[in-house]
Amino acid sequence: MIHQYDVIIVGAGGAGLQAAIEIPTESRCAVLTKVFPTRSHTGTAQGGVSAALGNEEEDSWEWHAFDTVKGGDYLGDQDAIETMCKDAIRAIIELEHMGMPFNRTPEGKIAQRMFGGHTANFGEKPVRRACYSADRTGHVMLQTLYEQCMKNDVTFFNEYHVMDLIIREGVCRGLVAIEIKTGEIHIFHAKAVMFATGGYGRVFQITSNAMAGTGDGFEMAYRNGVPLEDMEFVQFHPTGLWKLGILVSEAARGEGGILRNKDGERFMERYAPSIKDLAPRDMVSRAIYTEIKEGRGIEASDGSFYVGLDLTHLGKEIIEEKLPEITGFAKTYLGVDANEEWIPVQPTTHYAMGGIPTTIDAEVIVDENNTTMPGFYAAGECACVSVHGANRLGTNSLLDILVFGRRGGKKITEFLVNAEFPELPDDASEWTQNTIKRIRNNDNSVKMIDVRNEMQFTMMDTCSVFRVEESMKEGLQKIKELQEKYLLVGIDDKSKGFNTDLLEVVELGSLLNTAETIITCAINRKESRGAHWREDYAKRDDTNWLKHSLIFGTTGSTPDIRYKPVIIKQFEPKERVY
Ligand code: FUM
Repeated sequence: MIHQYDVIIVGAGGAGLQAAIEIPTESRCAVLTKVFPTRSHTGTAQGGVSAALGNEEEDSWEWHAFDTVKGGDYLGDQDAIETMCKDAIRAIIELEHMGMPFNRTPEGKIAQRMFGGHTANFGEKPVRRACYSADRTGHVMLQTLYEQCMKNDVTFFNEYHVMDLIIREGVCRGLVAIEIKTGEIHIFHAKAVMFATGGYGRVFQITSNAMAGTGDGFEMAYRNGVPLEDMEFVQFHPTGLWKLGILVSEAARGEGGILRNKDGERFMERYAPSIKDLAPRDMVSRAIYTEIKEGRGIEASDGSFYVGLDLTHLGKEIIEEKLPEITGFAKTYLGVDANEEWIPVQPTTHYAMGGIPTTIDAEVIVDENNTTMPGFYAAGECACVSVHGANRLGTNSLLDILVFGRRGGKKITEFLVNAEFPELPDDASEWTQNTIKRIRNNDNSVKMIDVRNEMQFTMMDTCSVFRVEESMKEGLQKIKELQEKYLLVGIDDKSKGFNTDLLEVVELGSLLNTAETIITCAINRKESRGAHWREDYAKRDDTNWLKHSLIFGTTGSTPDIRYKPVIIKQFEPKERVY
């Protein structure tokens, strides 16, 4: 079946919905999503969304911009960071007017709390900048944006799994999707496509990401010739629930929670003396693993190690009012009562700083000269604007989706004024048909689950918080072997409707190819910066590496890596001390 829409947005998280709201109702716009919209991964964001409102204490967008630049270890583009931090204030007021139920100060203003790396007066002391709804901020944001889409009569294709982009002669012409309910292939012919497809956390064994975070958008763009930017920068959130990886919000530390080692020591005092537990995530994750490596982790009954997140001094009222979700998770999954005991935590794969390169208006960039591709846009986690540089500050992702989702929606609206439908090629669905045929025809001797487990273990083992060349090279070799094996993966379930076996195999293809880009870029960058920490190159090297990497896929051979400069404006790179 062939559909025609002016705009197709893929992904119904915050970036996709915010973009859809901006498209005028006279344009035909549809949102495709592989899950039900309000189950998108934005809904799991917990602690807050940043904006220098100054409701609780003095604040300014320049301080916010400085913190974002420094938090990102000076790799973020400062024009984009300025745009985001300035626009944050408008974005929050707009959400408030849409009816988002923020927590309030006693006098009725939007309440704000502290979060890692957010400071007053260019690093002087922590500042309350995160606007929040208890520890369910992403959940209520998603509901609020979805309501607006309902009000605007946005068309949704729920439970459609996008398989391929239609790009010919450098122009994006639409996409191909499977309707999950029927297994039918649908072609969506469009003037403009926006990817807001989220992250790839499922590449790793321990992750805070939803099951749907399988890197589909990254991989589809890459497979179709679009480079990926700064893929080596993978954020590990310091506090995932031990062994499960489920997010335990940084808001817990924003409200006064303390990380403790087996001796009960507040160890962050040694690693970040000025802001301690509220240091940026890359630093806290490294500190946790260092404590464990040096024998100060807490040993679990199965011989694994974790550290404790101590909330016992906060009191029931704060826990119930401001941290109900995460303390509920601790109780449900680990049987831990956070009022009485420390929550066992360990770093968990959380966020992709890199992704599909874009302008500040979400136009997709296809080379190191910032050439854009007509009709293709990206926003949110799958995109790299780049505002997060080498390490994102907590609460800046919910802000990123609001600001750049909206800017993308506005840019598409401008583009539509003169845009015609590009020609639809006859072979649009060829790749999709061949892929489905191969998976269905393979015998099931190579199992999806075995390949996926090996990939997740390999990435965790060789390319996580600490990295070293030799082991990453072994990891890359393993990923390549798994890519070969993947071509033999089959399925037991040959039915058409709701064939999740088939779709999990398709997702595994995305995961493997995304893993290859991450580890290739991590081997290539011979310095330590932000979340990319090389034990064999343990220093930041601005002389050689203050630049973005762009990985281009070349069929059947080694990917090509090129570079583009970082945009520096008012904040010259300095040593990153907290
Ligand atoms: O810790 C958190 O609540 C996560 C927030 C974020 O990733 O921005």
